[in-house]
Amino acid sequence: MTATVIDGKAFAAKVRAKVGTHVARLKDEHGITPGLAVVLVGEDPASQVYVKMKGKMTKEVGMLSLEYRLNADAAEDDVLRLVADLNANPEVHGILVQLPLPKHMEEAKVLAAIDPAKDVDGFHISNVGLLATGQKAMIPCTPLGCLMMLRDHHGDLSGMNAVVIGRSNIVGKPMAQLLLGDSCTVTIAHSRTRDLAEVVRRADIVVAAVGRPRMVGAGWIKPGATVIDVGINRTDDGLVGDVDYAPVAEVAGAITPVPGGVGPMTIACLLANTVTACCRAND
Ligand code: GUN
Repeated sequence: MTATVIDGKAFAAKVRAKVGTHVARLKDEHGITPGLAVVLVGEDPASQVYVKMKGKMTKEVGMLSLEYRLNADAAEDDVLRLVADLNANPEVHGILVQLPLPKHMEEAKVLAAIDPAKDVDGFHISNVGLLATGQKAMIPCTPLGCLMMLRDHHGDLSGMNAVVIGRSNIVGKPMAQLLLGDSCTVTIAHSRTRDLAEVVRRADIVVAAVGRPRMVGAGWIKPGATVIDVGINRTDDGLVGDVDYAPVAEVAGAITPVPGGVGPMTIACLLANTVTACCRAND
């Protein structure tokens, strides 16, 4: 078997086009321009690339893009003051503080300072709680992008066995909540899971979000399963995912490539979340 490649790049372009149409309508009919503010603290090279890309795509769909850069040795209070200003700024509908933050800052405290209505990352504790209880929440962008690709490929996910590998607050946990919301039987596997390969082999849907290059091998995959690779690992061979792509593609029914799978969908969902936040603010 050779897996169907789920083209996240093409899907994301369609999502961005829809967002662009929505933005144009908000401007023409209501005189409102959705605005996204991104805060970057420090000089982490990967974060710099992501932030630059987010700004570029925000402008491309016609939204206001504001970027704030603070030095790595900035005080936590500086970030909290900036977040408070952005909360109060009516031109800003979405706020994203790029993670990771420098070690001297308490991530949870900074995320808690963001107005939940502007929390386009969906990391604020009230959005986490709303998602966990099946209420209207801001949904974290990476898991939302994964869910959109899964729904597009399968239609109904109800009753499928899903294994999420990784238990991060950014991907693993919200991904599991979303799959549960779509009536999958969900397992969250992690570094302490016993017989990990055996657990993953039971899955109809595998979401790999561990940050270990090519960890998921072909022997872990049930023939015909759908494999979503969230990993973006910089190696001597260039960017690779958490999935050993070529051999796994021989066994899986469908697979997302790296690059060109989950990554572009994450940014498209961030833009979509910003429009959602803008519409809710002006309801
Ligand atoms: N760092 C890695 N992924 C993300 C993300 O989705 N949002 C933010 N704010 N930081 C990240």
